[in-house]
Amino acid sequence: MFSKIIGTGSYLPPNRVTNHDLTQQLAEQGIETSDEWIVSRSGISARHFAERGVCASDLAVYAAERAIEMSGVKKDQIDLVIVASSTPDHLGSFPSTACIVQKKLGISGGGAFDVQAVCSGFIYAITIADAMIKSGNNKNVLVIGAELYSRILDFKDRSTCVLFGDGAGAVVMTASAEPGVLATKLHADGNYAHILTVPGKSAYGALDGSSFVHMDGPAVFKIAVSMLEKVASEVMQAANIAASDLDWLVPHQANIRIMQSTAKKLNLPLEKVVVTVDQHGNTSAASIPLALDCAVRDGRIKAGQTVLMEGVGGGFTWGAVIVKM
Ligand code: ACO
Repeated sequence: MFSKIIGTGSYLPPNRVTNHDLTQQLAEQGIETSDEWIVSRSGISARHFAERGVCASDLAVYAAERAIEMSGVKKDQIDLVIVASSTPDHLGSFPSTACIVQKKLGISGGGAFDVQAVCSGFIYAITIADAMIKSGNNKNVLVIGAELYSRILDFKDRSTCVLFGDGAGAVVMTASAEPGVLATKLHADGNYAHILTVPGKSAYGALDGSSFVHMDGPAVFKIAVSMLEKVASEVMQAANIAASDLDWLVPHQANIRIMQSTAKKLNLPLEKVVVTVDQHGNTSAASIPLALDCAVRDGRIKAGQTVLMEGVGGGFTWGAVIVKM
């Protein structure tokens, strides 16, 4: 028994903000940056920001509808909804964004919960879905990564506000006799919790601390490069696959330089790496399913191909999954 991805979908809010637009908006507040700095340090040229009033569950539902349509599964056959998000609709994911998505999709009764592993969230969620399907608990699982980083960006902090964006990606996974998910690996190390964090806490009706993303960029960069290479090797070994057997690498879209470094260490040509960070920015837990869906829909990723997805994020968390599409 395998779990297999049978549908992908994604959604970006319509408001596309180029580096030029952002640079102008920041300049009006006395914050200096440039297209040249952003592109050379991160590879990002544009990102999408949702309008006020839009919730992560709204983006999630658009992406989910598309994944469900591609899968051919009927909505009421979905028996588990997992949402990976670090920007849930409600404080403390209470109630979970997954429950709100379930309601907005017009289904009920199956399981629904959120997963919080920041930018590794989708890899964590897919791993859980795989285990739930293989154990016989569930048949059709909707796995979504949905983020609204525009809500937690400090637009006075140029070292973070130029890097992130909003969006959602989704997959439908089903029980299958054909190979699908071949191997998964998850890791975390809480000793690095402080280098990428939203430090604020909610207590007694007040916010204690900052509700914005704080990041030690160079420290994150160093750890990300080393962890991603290690976990990619580990998951390939678990799946008994060599890098030369991979058709595609779909990495978390944080920084083009991190992706280039991983590809080089794995000896993978850059043509095999799906890159969307240039147009989406870093959409955290949404970035991998968004990139996957783009490459499926434009015909690059085809049925039967082998895809390695890997992510790294706050916590610190990291992980990888190999799937046969
Ligand atoms: N525009 C212009 N200058 C800037 C900007 C900006 N937007 N932001 C910072 N700077 C300046 C700083 O003030 C500093 O100047 P100084 O040297 O005079 O003090 C300099 O640029 C910073 O340089 P570095 O920190 O050396 O820049 P670096 O090459 O490390 O790039 C970056 C910074 C892009 C954040 C990089 O470290 C990075 O990508 N890190 C990883 C981030 C990441 O992947 N995060 C996500 C992973 S997990 C998740 O997705 C949540």
